[in-house]
Amino acid sequence: MDGNGRWAKQKGLIRAIGHENGTKSVRETVEAATELGIKNLTLYAFSTENWNRPKLEVDTLMKLLVSSLKKEIKTLQDNNIKLNAIGDLQSLPKKVYKELIEVIGKTETNTQMTLTLALSYGSRAEMVNAIKEISVKVKNNIISAENIDESIINEHLYTQNLPDVDLLIRTSGEQRISNFLLWQIAYAELYFTNSLWPDFTKQHLCDAIIEYQKRERRFGKTSEQIS
Ligand code: IPE
Ligand code: MG
Repeated sequence: MDGNGRWAKQKGLIRAIGHENGTKSVRETVEAATELGIKNLTLYAFSTENWNRPKLEVDTLMKLLVSSLKKEIKTLQDNNIKLNAIGDLQSLPKKVYKELIEVIGKTETNTQMTLTLALSYGSRAEMVNAIKEISVKVKNNIISAENIDESIINEHLYTQNLPDVDLLIRTSGEQRISNFLLWQIAYAELYFTNSLWPDFTKQHLCDAIIEYQKRERRFGKTSEQIS
């Protein structure tokens, strides 16, 4: 979800207003994804690198997160959406962490879609964490080094209960990954749009999906093998 700051700047507004308007796109996208029958949606809301922004902006984003969680619990329940979070959640301010855990608990049994928020998330940090956990298990003879395979690595990532990414959408015209789900996007289709996140609507999501449907996913095989 990129481009909140530029959206505000274009309108002569402060960045905070851009973030606030970004939450409207979050609601619209989440509802549209549910309606379309998407089972998993992951939103990159705050990266490990975002901690380096000015304190005022970080505080604004954290406050917005708490107020959105409080406000949107109804949207989640009405749409039967289960909330999940990935990242270094312990590093979030107490208020955010508490609210997050509360909403995750309240929506635990919802089944229509899993909405995962990537918060204080960095893919490299996730991998470091997984390597540490696996190393401890090897040391304690719970796993043998020879048996380490892709599924064992999957099981130690924050995304252990999620499938691989099918479609990755980045808004605002930037064409980079920025430390997002590096392991999990190995065979994802990438889609870049110039729309700034606060302008992103259901129509934009549909456009991305229509484009995705036109792609031939070969996973290393030949076109003939696929058809
Ligand atoms: C995305 O918008 C929101 C977050 C990263 C939290 P930006 O804040 O990155 O907006 P730009 O890139 O400055 O336009
Ligand atoms: Mg940005």
